[in-house]
Amino acid sequence: MQDQFDRDINYLRLSVTDLCNLRCVYCMPESGVTKLRHEDILSVEEIEEIVRAAAALGITKVRLTGGEPLVRHGILDICRRVAAVQGITETCLTTNGTLLPKYARELREVGVNRLNTSLDTLDPVRYAEITRGGDLNDALRGIDAARDAGFDVLKINTVLIGGVNDGEIRDLVDLTRDGRTHVRFIELMPIGASADWAGARFLENSAVLRAVPELVAADSDGVARLYRLPDTDGTVGLISPISSHFCPTCNRVRVTSDGKLKPCLHSSDEINLRGLHGDALAETLRAAIYGKPQHHTLDGTTTSNSARSMYAIGG
Ligand code: GTP
Ligand code: 5AD
Ligand code: SF4
Repeated sequence: MQDQFDRDINYLRLSVTDLCNLRCVYCMPESGVTKLRHEDILSVEEIEEIVRAAAALGITKVRLTGGEPLVRHGILDICRRVAAVQGITETCLTTNGTLLPKYARELREVGVNRLNTSLDTLDPVRYAEITRGGDLNDALRGIDAARDAGFDVLKINTVLIGGVNDGEIRDLVDLTRDGRTHVRFIELMPIGASADWAGARFLENSAVLRAVPELVAADSDGVARLYRLPDTDGTVGLISPISSHFCPTCNRVRVTSDGKLKPCLHSSDEINLRGLHGDALAETLRAAIYGKPQHHTLDGTTTSNSARSMYAIGG
């Protein structure tokens, strides 16, 4: 359906848990994460009901997010049910990749069409620092497992962190040389508990073009402006929510794992969906989508108005 600014809203990002098996410095605080109680998390049935209602309003694509979606108990059942909803033509999942060796094949079997995985560095020591203890090999094995399971096109998300991984831009771009890996650099967003940390390390995505001047412009893909190395099919995407925000063409809304609809990532607005069924659920969704804010106000000097940290939204 159209929102009040005539944007076609067809994409739902659905967080299935706020838990994660990593602790990325830009996403989670080191300690003090209060875990939602089991009864506060949407059940599989509630998720299915929300997706059905959203599909009836014109949502065609669902992306399951977290925290880390693969730590959610029953994730395969959730994927299966979402993929089976009439009107949903694309079921996707964004993951840190570490649990893909266990799940990749089954994700494919239950109807997940595409996976996006996070990878901020190719250096094991730096990976452990960024993720506060993660093992780079787990993520790399996860990417291989996704390939082996038949996820041919894989998007890798790299958050660009000034002074941390900006020396690796070229190495990460080189991953696209195999012709089927797409690497997207994401500008660090100052949000939630890590907002100050992120604000101090913000680097504009133009750093990628300076580091690899031979990149040539290609088409754009949703939120990312695309480039390629000459003679490769893999693309390099720049997702620049701060230096060049894409709000005018935004096509998505989010639902948190505790059942709040967030019309905009960086707004404090949250609309409760829990306990609503039938017409009440449909009307609440319709009004929330219609009222989606025109744009966010992040500009490199301000921090997000979102009261939640990224791990509790799902990106
Ligand atoms: P595709 O379906 O492959 O296009 O995936 P996607 O880019 O929609 O999803 P993904 O989960 O891979 O998101 C990539 C990054 O973009 C994450 O870091 C998100 O936080 C960020 N992102 C996604 N949507 C938005 C948005 O609406 N606003 C902002 N500011 N950032 C977003
Ligand atoms: N800024 C930009 N991207 C972020 N992500 C998590 N926190 C932030 C942040 N503060 C990214 C992850 C993952 C995606 C879901 O969100 O790296 O790729
Ligand atoms: Fe977990 Fe993703 Fe947040 Fe890292 S960015 S702590 S992998 S949810």
